[in-house]
Amino acid sequence: MPVKNSTPKETYLKDYKPAPYTVDSIFLTFDLDPENTTATSQLSLRRSQKEQDGHPLFLNGEDIELFSIKNNGTVLPKGTYKIEKEGLTIFEPPEVLNLEIKTGLKPSKNTRLSGLYETGGILCTQNEAEGFRRITFFPDRPDVMTKFTTKIIASKDKYPILLSNGNLIEESDLPNGKHYAVWEDPFLKPCYLYALVAGNLGLIKSTFKTQSNRTIELRIYCDKGSEDKCQHAMNSLKKAMRWDEEKFGREYDLDLFMIVAVSAFNFGAMENKGLNIFNSNAILVDPETATDDNFMRVEKVVAHEYFHNWTGNRITLRDWFQLTLKEGLTVYRDQEFTADMHYRGIARIEDVFYLRKNQFPEDAGPTSHPIKPASYIQIDNFYTTTIYYKGAEVVRMIESLLGKEDFKKGMEKYFLDYDGKAITTEDFVKSFDKIGAADLKAFSKWYTQAGTPEISLRFDYDDNEEEFILEIDQIASSSSKEKEPFLFPLAVGFIDISGKPLRAKIANAREVGTTYILTVSKKRERFAFKNIPKTAVPSLNRGFSAPIKITAPYEKEDLLHIMEYDEDSFTRWDASQELYKRILFEMVKDLKDGRKPLPDLELYEAFNSILTEENLESGYKACLLTLPTESEMADAQEIIDFEANHIARELLKESLGLWFFEPMLKMYKALARKKEYVIDTESMGLRKLKSTLLGYLMASRKPDAIRLCYEQFRTANNMTDQFSALTLLQNSFCPERKEVLDSFYNQWKGNGLVLCKWFMAQSQSTLKDTQGLVESLLNHPAYDDKIPNNVRALLGTFIQNLPQFHHKSGSGYRLIADQILKIDKFNPHVSSGLVQGFKLYSKVDPLRKAMMQKEMERIISDDNLSPNVYELVSKCLNSAPKS
Ligand code: BES
Ligand code: ZN
Repeated sequence: MPVKNSTPKETYLKDYKPAPYTVDSIFLTFDLDPENTTATSQLSLRRSQKEQDGHPLFLNGEDIELFSIKNNGTVLPKGTYKIEKEGLTIFEPPEVLNLEIKTGLKPSKNTRLSGLYETGGILCTQNEAEGFRRITFFPDRPDVMTKFTTKIIASKDKYPILLSNGNLIEESDLPNGKHYAVWEDPFLKPCYLYALVAGNLGLIKSTFKTQSNRTIELRIYCDKGSEDKCQHAMNSLKKAMRWDEEKFGREYDLDLFMIVAVSAFNFGAMENKGLNIFNSNAILVDPETATDDNFMRVEKVVAHEYFHNWTGNRITLRDWFQLTLKEGLTVYRDQEFTADMHYRGIARIEDVFYLRKNQFPEDAGPTSHPIKPASYIQIDNFYTTTIYYKGAEVVRMIESLLGKEDFKKGMEKYFLDYDGKAITTEDFVKSFDKIGAADLKAFSKWYTQAGTPEISLRFDYDDNEEEFILEIDQIASSSSKEKEPFLFPLAVGFIDISGKPLRAKIANAREVGTTYILTVSKKRERFAFKNIPKTAVPSLNRGFSAPIKITAPYEKEDLLHIMEYDEDSFTRWDASQELYKRILFEMVKDLKDGRKPLPDLELYEAFNSILTEENLESGYKACLLTLPTESEMADAQEIIDFEANHIARELLKESLGLWFFEPMLKMYKALARKKEYVIDTESMGLRKLKSTLLGYLMASRKPDAIRLCYEQFRTANNMTDQFSALTLLQNSFCPERKEVLDSFYNQWKGNGLVLCKWFMAQSQSTLKDTQGLVESLLNHPAYDDKIPNNVRALLGTFIQNLPQFHHKSGSGYRLIADQILKIDKFNPHVSSGLVQGFKLYSKVDPLRKAMMQKEMERIISDDNLSPNVYELVSKCLNSAPKS
């Protein structure tokens, strides 16, 4: 591998030291201008660590110009400090300093979208994780909590609205067409939660009455003209506020809560204290331009960022290694919120579906890491599905181990003990340690060991004792270097031959109805259940009680039995997925052996009973009818066979679509007759079922299906129906494919958010001209790679399109490598997101490996590569023996 001139430096958890100085307060004055902004920071620092005596004081600062620096009103003499690439060092600092630092910023040139930047005429900030250092010199670390006051000065005409955290305490006009506003945040916070917004914005307002009868003013700001599209976000915000009071006793603390939507944003949204900033795609929805999934996402993201006010802001992180403390916990909270607002069973399935599609492969690949990593080069690279979603599962396991009541008590204790503090994940776990009986120390392996645990189960029957035996082995997962077993809750139950739940007798299990929650903690363990007949079918990992992979000696009939009768809606779905997967892999094998894969009659029977079952909620039925993704298939293979996986999955869809064409058509037509558009959980479920059915009808390749799909596109009165038809038509070579694309474009040109859907529909296509299409879209006038949403819609979708991106010609790899290098020059966060595509490197065949290697070496030998991309690409390259 070519060696770079300077390898970026790694930060280690074990090197953590408390901050030498605390910052009691900061007063920031901004004279705003997109070309040249001056930031004046007045900060009082106090030495807090004795051993720091005599050591220099370091303040982070990056890509900013130092205009002046004073202490107690006197300019610091030359030689008493120095400026380097990463910040400012003051030699021999006194115990107390009152610094005044003037810096110069260029928001319009800030293409990284970190720090203060310009988007669509708005000036805004993004400071997590390390953006504040791009505004002023400051100890940019989460354990330095400060009181912030901000004065914003700007042109009144261009920036009539001036916002920052906390409360507005003063505003007035100034000469020369300027005005100013002063905001004060009474709560101490780390600088990553600091925010500022200035612009000419539209606004919707509302209020919320808290449980203690305080009235909170709620505001959502957006581009002028988009106000109507903020209503759903406002409703979601109120639901989230109420829910947090009811479920966790958490009340909002300031008198004002604001959200601002902007069009160029690196993430979905950011939880700045009292002033959340959102990607407009996570706020703006209406039936014509947004799908049901978009509506659901807005509700979730609004809730997530709001929940951070307690889990993240009031209680914050000691250092960035603790990221899962706020993100894992807050995802757990937003998942619970979604479950309470809609159907719990479906919400759980969707969360697990997402975890398996995204987090399991990550944990099996070159960038696998524990939810609490031991080191990083770029913290930005660690906002991963592992930290977030495995982190949420770890919180959920604590809940399962303790039970709802004790978990709730633990959470109350957590809020009480740590309010206003910057803490660690160990502190979090300690809140439960004192309450629960379970051994939470052994549980801590989840924080430090990477890899998805693999569990192998055997069923046995002890005729003498009349006991049903579960024998459990923990196999060390391939990606985990350590081999220590994990402690986890395993929720099990038993179904008798007639389909009824059985009541067992077992010591040391927590019982919830006829579900038994075992605490598994050893490499090999045996659990004996009394009162269970030999013929019973065990139902395992109910509700997905632990994020593990299980192999169990199930026959297909057992899976069918679980699908048909289990009381747990998750395991019923899971059994369907297991069954589909087995059939898919039989087909893959047939294909490899040169046999024609044959239909599986048992499957047809199961499918038929799902289709005809009348008491299933539509959304749940849609889940049961959905096949596992190609990503999940890949995750189960040692060497991925992209082509065979794709062919098998398409074939299975086609044969199901043909076999059930008539009944599906009938069901589809019945659903399509309902023209009235309602946004509630049930109607969303109906639309989801409708598009799932349409997907199968289209897979049959019958001309009738194409006509139907085209008709749905043409007559749709909402984006959900329009977009699903548009997307499905992109997978058939037919004249309608192009026609709907053009019509969609003409209808929505000018709406950047909707055009992202137009890009996605094209880059998810399974047809063989997809890559060429994607390449030509890079030059489309509507495509702007300075807007992260565009890159993610076109290229982010493409790298998830496995058969296309991993095409054996290697051209997909080349295309993405070219784009990584191009985008890296202006936005390393976005370029490093595309490196995700290479994470299957260790599992591809030698031919692909050689081509991937070539592209990654081309990337890593670039002289000006960002540390973000360097870290990920070097991990990929080091993960597998070179071909
Ligand atoms: N704190 C994050 C935003 C963030 C992400 C800042 C990465 C810096 C780096 C925020 O709370 C978040 O997690 N947002 C998610 C959405 C959420 C529903 C999981 C996002 O932006 O995708
Ligand atoms: Zn978050």
